[in-house]
Parts: sequence; structure tokens; C-alpha cells
Amino acid sequence: MSSAMPSESLVSDVMEHALSAACAASVRAAVTLGLAEALGDDPATADELATAVGAHPAALRRLLRSLTSYGVFAEKPADFYVHTEKSLALREDAPDSVKYLVLWCTEPWLWPLWGDLGESVRTGSEVFTRTHGRRFYEQLHTEWPESARIFDRAMTQQTRLSATAVADMLPLSGAATIADVGGGQGLVLGTLLERHPELRGFLLDLPDVVANADARLHPGGELADRVRLVPGDCLKEVSAEADVYLFKNILGVDDDASVRILRNAMKVARPGARMVIVENFVDDGPGRKLAAAMDLRMLLVIGGQKHTRAGLLKVVERAGLTVRSVRPVDSSLHMIEATEM
Ligand SMILES: C[S@@+](CC[C@H](N)C(=O)[O-])C[C@H]1O[C@@H](n2cnc3c(N)ncnc32)[C@H](O)[C@@H]1O
Repeated sequence: MSSAMPSESLVSDVMEHALSAACAASVRAAVTLGLAEALGDDPATADELATAVGAHPAALRRLLRSLTSYGVFAEKPADFYVHTEKSLALREDAPDSVKYLVLWCTEPWLWPLWGDLGESVRTGSEVFTRTHGRRFYEQLHTEWPESARIFDRAMTQQTRLSATAVADMLPLSGAATIADVGGGQGLVLGTLLERHPELRGFLLDLPDVVANADARLHPGGELADRVRLVPGDCLKEVSAEADVYLFKNILGVDDDASVRILRNAMKVARPGARMVIVENFVDDGPGRKLAAAMDLRMLLVIGGQKHTRAGLLKVVERAGLTVRSVRPVDSSLHMIEATEM
């Protein structure tokens, strides 16, 4: 081993990694303070923004220094702040808003768990249950209703970015019914039903999630007569006989559970049904850095994972399916189409 001193830039690089919680916390604080909504089209000073959001002016200037270093807001000219694409996306009403995704990624209950990542890696198991006395989804839906709503909205925001691309690619010719398993609030299902006027759909998710589904799918909603909302646990059963099953970002569980979910659908599927899986691969595509972070979060919280490409294809085959195609949806998602052998 060399006895030379590490270079200054190496030390600051590693320190920046180790202090990256400050970046996450800064973005969260921008959202919780409502900074993106407080800043309009005209530049504003830190003092003006502090008055608008009810903050300590000098402390807010320090927060803005952190945020602008990541391109969230810009300082132009000195002590005048303006929006950037990133800061605009923090607004709730932005078409590509990431407000709830930011809140979801930085929920206060998550921070202490990160401290136990080494333990999770040592055991290969989640640390959530030991900390909170219940498994994640049970805790979320019984104790943390506000966090549960943030989760649902975050998933919907994430899906808004890819729903059109998924709908463009999804092969639905000849299909009369589709089941969106773990379909969240039903944004993708709603998009598909709007595109295909003859198509009928099932939205399956946990009871609390289905109860807060997209208004278009609820009784009285414009798509309601073509939808059945199916509250339930897809690890136990999938109660929907369909021609196409969509599993978008729900196989982030261990391999055995992923196989079980696919088999539960296969048990009730119509002959020749297609299984369509949309997932991030942790080892393939430009989105893999983000997927690697989500993978660790899933390990900590649910003992789950973002699969590798080969790992997910193996899961699909273990379920008794034959992979027909694997295609990129966007920079972070892939679509796998499979049918029974
Ligand atoms: C990452 S989100 C993806 C939601 C949606 N498919 C999308 O892409 O926006 C995972 C979804 O799976 C649901 N889920 C988790 N465990 C489930 C289970 N055992 N049965 C049914 N749904 C479940 C969650 O409530 C959540 O809506």
C-alpha cells in the first residue's frame, strides 16, 4: 500500500459522498418549505423568499447555497434566485412534478434505517420489521396513513413519466381484458382504457390503495363501467381472469415471492394470456445508478430488490413462462413480455 497522502480532491470526493444526506435533506426542505411555489417568474432575494415561506433569512440563504450547487434553483445575479428545470419540477402543479417522489424518497422514518445498511448487507435481510415491529406495508397502512398517501402519489408521479411510453409499447391487439397487478392508483390502467375503447380492466392492489384509486376508475368515473377494482394481496391470489397481466414495478420482492406473484396470475389467466413485466434493471441502462439506490432502499425496507436483467429473466422462467421479448421503455425501464410455454 502506498504511504502517500490521499489527494485533496480524493478526500473531498469521498467526503461529498459521505455527506450526501445533506443533498437529500436540502431537496426535502425545499419541498416542505414550499420554496418552488414561493418563487415566481421574477428573481427573488433570499430575504424575500424567507418572508414568503416563513423561514430564517440567513438559514434560508444557506439552504439555497446547497440547492443551487445541485442545480436546484440558480443564483442570478448574486443573491437573486431563479427557477431551474429541477426546481420547477418540485412544484405540485408542474406537469412533470416530482414533489411526492422527493417526499417519498426522504420520509423521516427512512433515515434511521439507512444507518443499519451495513447490518442489512451482513444478513441479506430487511431491518424495518425489527425497528418498527411490523412488516413495511402493514405499518404503512395501519400507522402511517399520511406516508401511505405520499407513497401512492409518488408512484403515480413516477408512472406519469412512463405511462405513455408503456401504453405505446404494450401489445393489446386481440386482448379484451387487462389486469394491472399492483397497479397503484391506476394511472397506467386509465391511460390504456382511454386508448382502447373496447378494453376492460382490473385494478388489483392493497385495499387502502384501491380505495384511493384514480377518480376515473371509481363508480361514477368516466372509465368506471369498464373497470373492476380488486382489493387484495397478490402474494396470496390474483382474482382477475384476463388476457394480459401487467406487473409494473411490483416484482421488487425476493425471487420466491416474485415467482409466486406470477404463478398466482397464471392460475387464473385465460388461455394464451400474456404476462407483461415492466421493471428497472439494476445492471442495465443509463438509469442503473438510480436503480442501485432504489435496490438498497428495498433491501432495507422490505428485503426486496431491483433485479438484474438475468435475475429477472430467470424468475420469469422459474414461474413457468417463456420470455418472448425484452425491450427498453425509456432510460430506466424495460418491458418483458412472456407467455406460458
Ligand atoms: C412500486 S409501486 C408500483 C405501482 C404501479 N404499478 C406503478 O408502476 O405505478 C408497488 C405497488 O404494489 C402494491 N403492492 C405491494 N404489495 C402488494 C401485494 N401483496 N398485493 C397487491 N399489491 C401490492 C403497492 O401498494 C404499490 O401500489
